[in-house]
Amino acid sequence: MSEPTLFPPDFLWGAATSAYQIEGSPLADGAGPSIWHEFSHTPGRTRDGDTGDVACDHYRRYPDDVALLRELGLNAYRFSVAWGRVLPEGRGRINPAGLGFYERLVDAVLERGIQPMVTLYHWDLPAALDRFGGWVNPDSAAWFADYAQVLFRALGDRVKLWVTLNEPWVVVDGGYLHGVLAPGQRNPFAAPLAAHNLLRAHGSAVQAYRAEGQHQIGLVVNLEPKYPATETVEDLSATMRADAYWNRHYLDPVFLGGYPPELAEIFGQAWPDFPDSDFDVIRQPLDFVGVNYYSRQVVRHDPKDWPLAAARVRQPRQTHTGLEWEVYPQGLTDILEWVAGRYGPLPLYVTENGAAFYDPPHAEGEIDDPLRRRYLRDHLRAALEARRKGVDLRGYFAWSLLDNFEWAHGYSQRFGLVHVDYVTQRRTPKASARFYAGVARSRGAALNADRAL
Ligand code: FCB
Repeated sequence: MSEPTLFPPDFLWGAATSAYQIEGSPLADGAGPSIWHEFSHTPGRTRDGDTGDVACDHYRRYPDDVALLRELGLNAYRFSVAWGRVLPEGRGRINPAGLGFYERLVDAVLERGIQPMVTLYHWDLPAALDRFGGWVNPDSAAWFADYAQVLFRALGDRVKLWVTLNEPWVVVDGGYLHGVLAPGQRNPFAAPLAAHNLLRAHGSAVQAYRAEGQHQIGLVVNLEPKYPATETVEDLSATMRADAYWNRHYLDPVFLGGYPPELAEIFGQAWPDFPDSDFDVIRQPLDFVGVNYYSRQVVRHDPKDWPLAAARVRQPRQTHTGLEWEVYPQGLTDILEWVAGRYGPLPLYVTENGAAFYDPPHAEGEIDDPLRRRYLRDHLRAALEARRKGVDLRGYFAWSLLDNFEWAHGYSQRFGLVHVDYVTQRRTPKASARFYAGVARSRGAALNADRAL
């Protein structure tokens, strides 16, 4: 039996990335453009017009990056596949060169004794499919399942942990409701349909995996616990709406077979009637759930907030990250317990957790990032606390291995354990990377020892 103060010997210690954020060379070797390629090349969509054209040049430098994972002593790596590299038109013709890249990457990861966790969709829909409506088109579920099957067949012998979708909430909220992420729609009628089709796509891919896959498949959601600003009826019901929209919108259909009732109220006329039979597809048994956790929300009723009428109350005395996200480690324990209680018991992973902070100018070879280090320390303690409370947490993936293209924020926000100089592409592990490596090596003992901050 493992000591209760430590993580177990088979715990996964990983770092996460996604294709468009790090790879660069988005059109190389016959790849088809993604909606993120088009979006970032549209004037005014990203900060300073930044694009993923070069990013971290991981497409060409992946052996170095895999070596870096090893050097940090990590035993797991979560990355995503760019759909358009494998199927340039999104469906039909396979591009062997694109598939070959992921075969080489998986082999390199395995050769270093690292366990790959492969995400099939991290927001980069082939642009060719967006021409047909993207996720609003009901056929998108079948497009995705067909694409997933290509990957299962090519890599299924080597990859033991699969993720269908990364954060469907963000895909819908940013991409179809508020228009701040690709494909940039701002349409309350499109949003519930896109959400529903993403869930059907998830379920269809799980069905395809069960037909021939031997290992594990799950879903990754971004969760943010909601706490009422006051105990008034207005604030309590605003908190319920925010919780339904963020946290239950995707997990309720997957585990309980239906949508939270608040969603019809939130979307009003834009909320359709969904056929019951769709939930048979959506509600597939999963091997695990991945939770991406960054922050919490303290909620108050606010009729001006569209469409939730539930606004965020800024917490004045708390630390905030570069993106103005409140640092609240307790929320990680709370949300893991909540998932296990409402939908479990089931195996969980923290599939993303991390912070953007401004890294001060530094001498060559050393970058001290005490705020990120403290963020990791406190959240890893919170993860350990969830385990003590009985949550079946099996791994933790820091976001992110490398500084990278932070979507609409471009390169202005650095989340990496490893600093990237975008001019020279030089990688320099930050103090937080060394700290995290020490925590992994000691199975958490270094968390107790760390009193420096
Ligand atoms: C998550 C995304 C990831 C990254 C982090 C900061 O929502 O999954 O790609 O952008 O936020």
